[in-house]
Amino acid sequence: MTLPGAVVCCLLAVWYHRPGFGMPLAPAGSRLPGPCSSRQFWHVTDLHLDPTYHITDDHTKVCASSKGANASNPGPFGDVLCDSPYQLILSAFDFIKNSGQETSFMIWTGDSPPHVPVQELSTDMVINVIANMTTTVQSLFPNLQVFPALGNHDYWPQDQLPVVTSKVYNAVANLWKPWLNEEAISTLRKGGFYSQKVTTNSSLRIISLNTNLYYSSNIVTLNKTDPANQFEWLENTLNNSWQNKEKVYLIAHIPVGYLPFSRNTTAMREYYNEKLIDIFRKYSDVIAGQFYGHTHRDSIMVLSDKKGRPVNSLFVAPAVTPVRSVLQKETNNPGVRLFQYDPRDYQLLDMLQYYLNLTEANMKGESNWKLEYILTQAYDIKDLQPESLYGLAKQFAVLDSKQFIKYYNYFFVSYASSAICDEKCKAFQICAVMNLDHVSYADCLKQFYI
Ligand SMILES: *[C@@H]1O[C@H](CO)[C@@H](O)[C@H](O)[C@H]1NC(C)=O
Ligand SMILES: *[C@@H]1O[C@H](CO)[C@@H](O)[C@H](O)[C@H]1NC(C)=O
Ligand SMILES: *[C@@H]1O[C@H](CO)[C@@H](O)[C@H](O)[C@H]1NC(C)=O
Ligand SMILES: *[C@@H]1O[C@H](CO)[C@@H](O)[C@H](O)[C@H]1NC(C)=O
Ligand SMILES: *[C@@H]1O[C@H](CO)[C@@H](O)[C@H](O)[C@H]1NC(C)=O
Ligand SMILES: *[C@@H]1O[C@H](CO)[C@@H](O)[C@H](O)[C@H]1NC(C)=O
Ligand SMILES: *[C@@H]1O[C@H](CO)[C@@H](O)[C@H](O)[C@H]1NC(C)=O
Ligand SMILES: [Zn+2]
Ligand SMILES: [Zn+2]
Repeated sequence: MTLPGAVVCCLLAVWYHRPGFGMPLAPAGSRLPGPCSSRQFWHVTDLHLDPTYHITDDHTKVCASSKGANASNPGPFGDVLCDSPYQLILSAFDFIKNSGQETSFMIWTGDSPPHVPVQELSTDMVINVIANMTTTVQSLFPNLQVFPALGNHDYWPQDQLPVVTSKVYNAVANLWKPWLNEEAISTLRKGGFYSQKVTTNSSLRIISLNTNLYYSSNIVTLNKTDPANQFEWLENTLNNSWQNKEKVYLIAHIPVGYLPFSRNTTAMREYYNEKLIDIFRKYSDVIAGQFYGHTHRDSIMVLSDKKGRPVNSLFVAPAVTPVRSVLQKETNNPGVRLFQYDPRDYQLLDMLQYYLNLTEANMKGESNWKLEYILTQAYDIKDLQPESLYGLAKQFAVLDSKQFIKYYNYFFVSYASSAICDEKCKAFQICAVMNLDHVSYADCLKQFYI
């Protein structure tokens, strides 16, 4: 017989606390392991539904998102040159539903429509795809609290999210009403962002930022110092949380910091990146975690303060869509993840990354979502606190680091285990993990003689 984890852990908890035990089994103040002392939430991102996906002999016609190229090996769960068929997205949510995991909420960091030329979509088509994904989630998880964020593809024309209300902001405000309170709906309608406490009585607040306003490809916000007054709102919201002794999980689509696969490139305009980093440093005690999507890859970042002390942990989740462009060599397997946190102070304890081996799923005609890795166990670290991640990043930098080889395999969600990251590639990766502002990033590249 196997005991469910929660039972084992609660028995252990009783045992640890038995009076009269001479030797302390757990160091004073240490956290108890397992589900009875932790809570969980799911993170899903970048679903990118391609409604045109279908199996057909002419591989150029399998999906609009291959943009005329031949799909490479199309099957029921998709193809690496295509965005997600509906069946892939359903398999991800079915897996989550049947996983048996107890969760408090889910975060969903945007990008529902497919990667297709602008003229093949429209405002109504974009809204329809977001509505389809929202209805799908709401019907599978009628009792689950979901916190969404908008992505750069959740607009038409893509990337051009506006600084004032719009048809799309209005549509998502209506679609997401079952999840959000009146105040959240009101700011979402105006600027595509909101904040809300996880439950009325909890002291954990979600801030869902519209970082698409800062995206380099958004021409609407060119030359604007504070698009939609989001910076001002963010500072006020964080300051209120600080005064009310709340903790904040910050969710958004476009991540801060540097892209891990290229040299000296932020996803946001540099000015906006610096501005956000300043705010995040100022309120690092309030922010207990940051969660992003957009790159479609699995990566971590550690924000340090001006003195170089690690103060915040950031997590970029891999996509559900496996799509790559014809020019790219590697892509990601579809992934979803589960975070564990301490309900007393909302500190992040662990992350479990799940994935679908797309090749295998298509071969067998069935989807077998599996655990890819558990963050603390894969890297032998004690939790997800900034100090722990910082220590790990320093191990990555060691010559021939085994930890880094693992990290680089997980970067592609185990799709490209033979991919080699040369010295330059490794420097870009590590500098992006450890440095989020311009000055420290430039210093880091120098250190690696790049
Ligand atoms: C979403 O779209 C898929 C495929 O395009 C369709 O099969 C499904 O019925 C739609 N679901 C909802 C809830 O609109
Ligand atoms: C797609 O594959 C077919 C059959 O192999 C080939 O004839 C055709 O040129 C390919 N099309 C493109 C756009 O690569
Ligand atoms: C919130 O706290 C109040 C006062 O302590 C209590 O009466 C109420 O039942 C709580 N609500 C929930 C949803 O736990
Ligand atoms: C932004 O500012 C630059 C330099 O001042 C100017 O050349 C450009 O026209 C401005 N762009 C917009 C969209 O206002
Ligand atoms: C919040 O705002 C108050 C008043 O402006 C300021 O004194 C305080 O330092 C701010 N809190 C933080 C953490 O910056
Ligand atoms: C995925 O499945 C393919 C086909 O069975 C196999 O070759 C590959 O090693 C698998 N990848 C992983 C990460 O297990
Ligand atoms: C990085 O990019 C910025 C802005 O594009 C530029 O000013 C700077 O010189 C670059 N630094 C390095 C080290 O390449
Ligand atoms: Zn995106
Ligand atoms: Zn995306």
